Amino acid sequence: MAALLEVKGLKAFYGQTQSLYDVGFEIETGGITTLLGANGAGKTTTLRAICNMVRCEGVIRFDGKDMTKLPTEEIVRQRIAHVPEGRGTFTTLTVDENLRIAAYTRRDKAGVARELERVFAYFPRLKERVQQQAGTLSGGEQQMLAIARALMLGPRLMLLDEPSFGLAPLIVVEIFRILRRINEEEKVSILLVEQNAALALDLADHAYVLETGHVVMSGPSSVVKNDENIRKSYLGY
Ligand SMILES: Nc1ncnc2c1ncn2[C@@H]1O[C@H](COP(=O)(O)OP(=O)(O)OP(=O)(O)O)[C@@H](O)[C@H]1O
Ligand SMILES: [Mg+2]
Repeated sequence: MAALLEVKGLKAFYGQTQSLYDVGFEIETGGITTLLGANGAGKTTTLRAICNMVRCEGVIRFDGKDMTKLPTEEIVRQRIAHVPEGRGTFTTLTVDENLRIAAYTRRDKAGVARELERVFAYFPRLKERVQQQAGTLSGGEQQMLAIARALMLGPRLMLLDEPSFGLAPLIVVEIFRILRRINEEEKVSILLVEQNAALALDLADHAYVLETGHVVMSGPSSVVKNDENIRKSYLGY
């Protein structure tokens, strides 16, 4: 299958400090790729680089088009939806307002109403809480809202930064099930950054392991999962 996102020789810099050295990976159209790595490996920075939120060099091609010079708003218009670390919802707004703001690139009211219903079909918990202030939702519900906001864009690619962070195992399993459905039913390709390697490797078709700004291993998830070093360092057995 053709690559939807192609990243080659990616370097990223915060001021004088270099955080990515030579990062390369691909996401197939309709695929799920995961980036694994310890704290500080450069996972979040890689997602920021794709959204042009950090100074970088290298090749980032989305659907064959060069993305490196595009401003962040234009990258959103290309229907790349970023669910950042810490979720980025508007805590003082309601669930409904958060979702409607996310659809700001759409002009048609009927279209937005249809999108809301489509999104609520994945997240019935949010529908029950539509007038609740986002800041009063549970951690799991806030993560759901963050993913739901991304879905309101009608994305072709979703960038997810540690959706399992700080959540209880059961809710994490529920969220990962929803992600799989979104991938299959909406044909949304996914780039998943995770510290929970076991879950990420189950969901993704391809995996890349980052260490201090370098890709140190990559392959089909089934192969990476069985690698001895990965098992010891990331899966704990
Ligand atoms: N705004 C910043 N200014 C300077 N250095 C930064 C900044 N953000 C990140 N870094 C550095 O870049 C490196 C990669 O950070 P990044 O946040 O991408 O790691 P990560 O893999 O997402 O880690 P974690 O699992 O802890 O979220 C780290 O050494 C970090 O200290
Ligand atoms: Mg991070």
